[in-house]
Amino acid sequence: MSAIRRVGILTGGGDAPGLNAVIRAVVKTCKIHYHSIPIGIFNGFSGLVEMNARELDRDDVKGILPRGGTILGTTNRGNPFHYVYRRPDGKEEIVDATDTVKANVKRLGLDAIVVIGGDGSLSIAERFYREHGLPMVGVPKTIDNDISATEVTFGFATALESATGALDRLHTTAESHHRVMLLEVMGRDTGWIAVSAGLAGGAHVILIPEIPFRLESVFAKFRARERRGRLFSLVVVAEGAAPEGSDPVYQAEDAVTGWKRLGGVSFTIAREIERVTGYEVRATILGHIQRGGSPVPVDRILALRFGVEAARLAMEGQFGQMVAQRCGEIVAVPLADAIGHLKRVSPDAQLVRTAKNLGIVFGDEDPSDIDATEG
Ligand code: F6P
Repeated sequence: MSAIRRVGILTGGGDAPGLNAVIRAVVKTCKIHYHSIPIGIFNGFSGLVEMNARELDRDDVKGILPRGGTILGTTNRGNPFHYVYRRPDGKEEIVDATDTVKANVKRLGLDAIVVIGGDGSLSIAERFYREHGLPMVGVPKTIDNDISATEVTFGFATALESATGALDRLHTTAESHHRVMLLEVMGRDTGWIAVSAGLAGGAHVILIPEIPFRLESVFAKFRARERRGRLFSLVVVAEGAAPEGSDPVYQAEDAVTGWKRLGGVSFTIAREIERVTGYEVRATILGHIQRGGSPVPVDRILALRFGVEAARLAMEGQFGQMVAQRCGEIVAVPLADAIGHLKRVSPDAQLVRTAKNLGIVFGDEDPSDIDATEG
């Protein structure tokens, strides 16, 4: 019989559709297959600082497979190494809560902890494992699909469906009004959602962080379409995209943690298109709609597969590892290999070439080439 009895589970960072499916899979696998005890830790690593945890039973995960969000709650302000502590006078300060976490892991009797998170939460898990020997197992999560050690993360397909649906809707109104319509999608420093939604939704221009753009190329695309009698265009903009030589546009910065929230670049671009071309332009920021809602079936299945394998790694004492999809199979990879370097869209990637062969402009083309080859 395994020496592992009590398995903690927490969800950290921004939520993603499919988190509940992972929680359900870990709880059911622990209970049914290993007869071990799953312990839910609430609100990410904060639950380990503030001792907010309790045993989960099968009733807790009843009916949660199709539900978005996370029944455990989450936060992106819960890093115990730089913990945002609210003082009695209401002011916030950063403290080191490492020892509190270690003491609480002991008090809860946790033999393993499954951390479901993105780059930030997985980095915290890796540091606790490496520096303090805590029994961490990782599950990668993000709608951005930017974790390098896995081919794909759950949540991405659901976000993509929302973004593609939004483009389909914008298409009809853009065409009716002869307008340029911009759709700003999430993805932080990577353009996976933008490129994929742009392809699936028939965009004419896709702007991503990995390819700094020049608006002259975008204008050339509009001109080329106009010559063929197409008086509208659809532009997908990743929130982290920026013109050549410029920084991304941020909406806000957390005064205590320094966390910067991207957003709004599409409005800047829209104004510039309107000013230079005279087109009527509208911009839509899709925002957190991409994070909410019921996970699509592929996300549910991936999340369940990750959850079952994470429970196995935990029960076998394979700590410092993370589940990942490689060649379609779920495998274990060192947490250390998974963090710190984002999976980005290479400008030479086949996905980008495919889009370019379809005439989609990324803003790095020579405008005269577009004028010469199109229309
Ligand atoms: O990483 C997921 C993500 O949705 C990004 O695409 C986006 O930039 C960010 O989180 C938004 O974070 P918040 O929910 O804190 O606004």
